[in-house]
Amino acid sequence: MCGIVGILGTHPVSGDLVDALRRLEYRGYDSAGIATVENGHLGRRRAEGKLRNLEQRIAEDPLKGLTGIGHTRWATHGKPTETNAHPHMSERVSVVHNGIIENFRALREDLKAKGHVFDSDTDTEAVVHLITEEFNRRGDPVAAVKAALPQLEGAFALGIIFAGHDDLMIAARRGSPLAIGHGEDAMYLGSDAIALAPFTSEITYLEEGDMAVLRRLGAEIFDAAGQPVKRTAVKSQASSLLVDKGNHRHFMAKEIHEQPEVISHTLAHYIDMAEGKVNFPDLGIDLSALSRVTISACGTAYYAGLVGKYWIERYARVAVEVDVASEMRYREPPLPENGLALFISQSGETADTLAVLRYCKEQGQRIASIVNVRTSSIARESDVVLQTLAGPEIGVASTKAFTCQLAALASLALALGRARGTISAELEQELVKGLLEVPRHIAEMVADERPYEKLAHDLSKARDVLYLGRGINFPLALEGALKLKEISYIHAEGYAAGELKHGPIALIDENVPVIVVAPEDGLSEKTVSNVQEVAARGGQIVLISNGKPDAAGCELLAHIKVPDAHAFTNPLLYAIPVQLIAYHTAVFMGTDVDQPRNLAKSVTVE
Ligand code: F6R
Repeated sequence: MCGIVGILGTHPVSGDLVDALRRLEYRGYDSAGIATVENGHLGRRRAEGKLRNLEQRIAEDPLKGLTGIGHTRWATHGKPTETNAHPHMSERVSVVHNGIIENFRALREDLKAKGHVFDSDTDTEAVVHLITEEFNRRGDPVAAVKAALPQLEGAFALGIIFAGHDDLMIAARRGSPLAIGHGEDAMYLGSDAIALAPFTSEITYLEEGDMAVLRRLGAEIFDAAGQPVKRTAVKSQASSLLVDKGNHRHFMAKEIHEQPEVISHTLAHYIDMAEGKVNFPDLGIDLSALSRVTISACGTAYYAGLVGKYWIERYARVAVEVDVASEMRYREPPLPENGLALFISQSGETADTLAVLRYCKEQGQRIASIVNVRTSSIARESDVVLQTLAGPEIGVASTKAFTCQLAALASLALALGRARGTISAELEQELVKGLLEVPRHIAEMVADERPYEKLAHDLSKARDVLYLGRGINFPLALEGALKLKEISYIHAEGYAAGELKHGPIALIDENVPVIVVAPEDGLSEKTVSNVQEVAARGGQIVLISNGKPDAAGCELLAHIKVPDAHAFTNPLLYAIPVQLIAYHTAVFMGTDVDQPRNLAKSVTVE
């Protein structure tokens, strides 16, 4: 969470800092701020709320420094007020920070006793005063940061500038990502390469524990032990064009519509189109003797993992455990020999997922990850990276990353099935053919959004919405409920259809819409019985199916028709209506679809 940026430039940098922050706003948008070194002094502008408030503040009262740092915040310690907004500063030092300093209370007390005055409630301000204290004592900014870093406990990515030092910026990374950009007589710092895309494509990713001293002509990097190290620069793929909404009203709409294309790219990565077979990377483990697949992820990525469990257990006949990373990291379950641990993450930076990855590594599991950001921490710490080719996902609610994760998981299930001899070559070909038809079906599904616009009108009046699904479609019910609540703020819950009468049916009355994900897949008759139980209690039913509306045997609030397709591919197809229902309901209600309240795209704190 939180985005940080820094520029050692050749002209006043405040405009470029704000531009870079706009690309990082997906990481948090509670407040924003910048600081620059101007005539040897530190100047700062901050504003509560969205970046446009900061832009207005800067327009009224410009900053002219050529060296500066910026921050967009997702509040952890302290309310999202201007006082708590970054950069934090003393007279000599200004800091932007992503992460959590766990020992900030002890540091704060100690520094207060030494005469430092704190203005904010944040953990970050302790870093400012600690570095200032060391700077006062040592007289050298680099030595000051070197002395301060070992005193910090917790996770951080830091960008630091100093009064009187126009050609200096210090960066440090422990647990939170940080990238350095190389320009012509200019250097850049950012939470990711996307932020730096308009300025440079030559990027060096800092490793865990690194500290970097940036000057206009280059960077010196020190590893966790304080030794100088070389980290190679790579060409970043992040194009400045990629963070454009195109003709769409929201990034989320654009990303929903991109799915046919990005799912094709992801499938093409794992499937030999000519042969109609899966062409999967070597997982480096004896698959015939595979004891278990342990999947861990958070939020939407966790729901992708649940779908993966159904696929892998069915086609590869191997036991799969799926757990939310925040639970698994402290449960520390025993893990079997010759087990595969699989991590699913769009950002590749989710703190809990990364923590479980490290635990599984210690337990001798083979580590594979399905990630969208190839250069992320989770990717870099994995034995095998299974990339999703969704491209940058900017809307906070995950859409195309989810379906690309499903595409990779479906391919993985087939690859495991083939390696273990649990699917025949004919079945593999049949299922691959089904997968290759998915982009075409989705293109058809997103072509007409009118049914969703109409439905949005009804759903917007609801206080609670239930989603039901059975079998492999149960995770889609969970995903539908998550999508609706996160962007429309309507309370929604997903249930396994068979669980309805074990409790949730008590909620049903004429004011509760029930959205049923019910493809005709051999289980649909059982789901139809559940639908009738809802109808008998006055519930308003929205049926999402490839069948006819009258198959429900009751009156419907709406029927969303999904194309007939191979049942294997249903989770990919049924993801689209649940995304569009949430999107149109949120648009109708006028919420901030791309940046819903209280959320951030990349959850780098636990
Ligand atoms: C919901 C959503 C989140 C993420 C979760 C994991 O729409 O986007 O639930 O899926 O925070 O994030 P990643 O995939 O980056 O690990």
